[in-house]
Amino acid sequence: MATVLIIGSGGREHALAWGMAQSSAVEKVYVSPGNAGTAHEQKCENVAVNGAYETVAFCQNNHIDLVVIGPEAPLVEGLSDALREASIVVFGASKLAAQLEGSKAFATQFMQKHDITIPESVIVTSAEGADAAMKIFGGPENSVLKANGLAGGKGVFLPDTAAEAADAIQKITSGAMDGDGSRFVVQARNHGPEVSVFVLSDGTNYKVIPLASQDHKRLLAGDKGPNTGGMGVYAPLPDWMLSAAQWEKIEVIAEKTITAMAAENTPYQGVLYMGLMLAEELAGDPLVIEYNVRFGDPETEVIIPLLHGNGVDIYDMLYATAAGTLADFAMPKEIHGAALTICLAAEGYPDSPIPGKVVEGLANEYRDVTVFHGSTKLDESGQVVTSGGRVLYVTGLGVNLAAASQAANAAIGESAIHFPAMQYRPDIAWRARNR
Ligand code: GLY
Repeated sequence: MATVLIIGSGGREHALAWGMAQSSAVEKVYVSPGNAGTAHEQKCENVAVNGAYETVAFCQNNHIDLVVIGPEAPLVEGLSDALREASIVVFGASKLAAQLEGSKAFATQFMQKHDITIPESVIVTSAEGADAAMKIFGGPENSVLKANGLAGGKGVFLPDTAAEAADAIQKITSGAMDGDGSRFVVQARNHGPEVSVFVLSDGTNYKVIPLASQDHKRLLAGDKGPNTGGMGVYAPLPDWMLSAAQWEKIEVIAEKTITAMAAENTPYQGVLYMGLMLAEELAGDPLVIEYNVRFGDPETEVIIPLLHGNGVDIYDMLYATAAGTLADFAMPKEIHGAALTICLAAEGYPDSPIPGKVVEGLANEYRDVTVFHGSTKLDESGQVVTSGGRVLYVTGLGVNLAAASQAANAAIGESAIHFPAMQYRPDIAWRARNR
């Protein structure tokens, strides 16, 4: 029986821990630091392990068979490398490979070199360089500005005016976004739906998880209001939104990326998150908007339950990826059913979420629903209280998106799961369901 360590504390990590706990091969799942959801999950225990040295020691002392690193920051800092050097099996990109997310300039040069379709892009080192690049693309309103390094989801700007562009450039060049500012990327702005696709790779072999998902970034129903880390997600996309021909082109991008990373001596191990736009400017062909070196959040909260529901053992899948045996792992060819996640966010999110609200209704049974915790903790009396912006993720499963939406929405409200002044979008997947 296997023992697993998951690094991270959000909804993504709760979904991964939940998926691991469903496996008959898994005896114990440690989560560091975890949250109130992972504290209560079967087979799971929260621990506090900090930094590479402590993590290696914890793995050695607790006979850890597999480490899964959830967020990008420890990957960019090289935690995977430290674990591999100690012969510990780890699911996560190396420090060099993690530059695909850790440096937008690296990712841009990589894709340009390997003929992977991205928006027209220029790497610049000054405000003057950025102004010149925006001129080529038709002005600020036709451009996108991207800080080079990790910026907690706040490093991308879509200015509508010269003044907004100047403000964004000032923020980027001052290093306020990513602690650097010495170089950044200016891209031509394209238009079209964005989709998330995940590719598992053991460095040599790769398998595309056979479904696309769509996050909802805006706070309010109808895709209005400020941008957030993601207010909900659904999968799969209906055929009329993502055709078989478009999917084939996505698979080509995955193949080119994994092959090129190996050819560059930075073999990719772990999950590659491809943030793609089906660009109107290219008759719907996919463009890579961003690579991330981790599972998406909240995408994981639909992908893991859907894969599990289709017979996938989540431990086997992640272990095969980490151990270099992905060629032997049988990924389903297609996924049956649908999943839809609604995020319950705190009052004041995204600017200043108010913590400390008691969450009610979690002990009830909800049909076809799994609840993942994002930002929660247990107070002194053992109650679950909010501790950040994206508090809970309510995932509904069903034969189709309408059924999944109904299940998720039925589990939210005054007589179900709630906390004071929570914000959420009942309309997740509205475009996909309104046809
Ligand atoms: N779904 C957005 C992200 O994980 O970055």
